[in-house]
Formats: sequence, structure tokens, C-alpha cells
Amino acid sequence: MWAAWRGLDPAALLAPVRGHLPTPPARILDVGAGTGQIARHLSLLGHDVVAGEPVAAFHGVAGPAWVNARLPELDGINGVFDAILVLGMWQHIPPIDRPAALARLAGAVAARGRLIFVLRHGGVPNDRPIWSNPVEEPLSLANSNGMICIDRIEPRSVQPVNRAARVTWTWPVLHGRR
Ligand SMILES: C[S@@+](CC[C@H](N)C(=O)[O-])C[C@H]1O[C@@H](n2cnc3c(N)ncnc32)[C@H](O)[C@@H]1O
Repeated sequence: MWAAWRGLDPAALLAPVRGHLPTPPARILDVGAGTGQIARHLSLLGHDVVAGEPVAAFHGVAGPAWVNARLPELDGINGVFDAILVLGMWQHIPPIDRPAALARLAGAVAARGRLIFVLRHGGVPNDRPIWSNPVEEPLSLANSNGMICIDRIEPRSVQPVNRAARVTWTWPVLHGRR
């Protein structure tokens, strides 16, 4: 997804969850931040943004604090966040690692914080491995970690290439029970 998102307006991309994002200044973690357009945009809005991304070559843009971190451990990422974004990357987490990954994320969401997923379905790329991504799975894991789903948005693909490939998206928004 991230390659297809290059050049698109980050504000427009985040529009489906605008109402769930905290008011600046807040602490936000972007997990699997890619080249950081979303993280940069949120930094410019006045947020304190940590971009967790295991590919060091992507650590380019100014604004977020870059950390070479990967799920499920997220080593080097400390504290709690008012919002955690998991945008178009959950399909890269092998199912065996997902319970630990969800537990790590749930533990890093502040009281009254939000955990926002963008889950991609279909349109398997042939240049990298991805795993199936049923929405029920992170919701069930989140529930086991004391979180509840407060919104579930299903926006249309913004990219014609994705619409042609019949890619669909689910954006579940989770809230801690603490
Ligand atoms: C499809 S890109 C999405 C990038 C960005 N979130 C976006 O939506 O534009 C997936 C990103 O997840 C990162 N990634 C892959 N496995 C990861 C892991 N185990 N933990 C954290 N990030 C990972 C990749 O390096 C890549 O930057």
C-alpha cells in the first residue's frame, strides 16, 4: 500500500479516522511507518510522533523520531501513546507472531487512547510475502487484551490500481478498557 500512497495527501488518506485522532499535541506511534509521510504529516500538526520502521533505509523524512523497531517486540519504543497507527502493515506479521504483536500494541496504548488498524484484503503483491488478514483476528486478539472495537470503517480504495485488483480495506478502531 505504501508505494501506492506516495504522492497522495496524508490528510485525505487519514480522513476516515480523523475523528478518532487526538488533538495536538499528543503522543502518536506509527508502526511500520514506511517512508513516513503519515508520520511527518502528524508531526507537522504538532504531535510528538514516533515512527517505528525496521527498514532503516526508509528513515528519511524529518519530523518523527525514527526507531528501528519491529513487531512483535518493538524494542526501543518506550512508554504509552495516545494513538497507535498500524497502517497497511499487519499483513506482514506472520500469524504465529500476531498474539504477541497485539499484546505489545495493547500495552502501549494510553488510557482513553486509540489503536487504529488499516487492514488490506486481496490484491496480493508478487514482490513480497504477505499473510491473510481477516478482520476478526486482530479484533479477537484485541478483545483478549482488554480492548474493544469502537468503529469499523470500510473505505473504498483511493488508488485505481487497487480498485482494479479488487483490493478492499477495513479500518477497525480500538479503544482500551482501562
Ligand atoms: C505496506 S508498508 C506500509 C507503510 C505505511 N504504514 C503506509 O501505510 O504507507 C508496510 C511496512 O511495514 C513494515 N514492516 C514489515 N514487517 C514489520 C514488522 N514486523 N514490524 C514493523 N514494521 C514492519 C515494512 O518495512 C513496511 O515499511
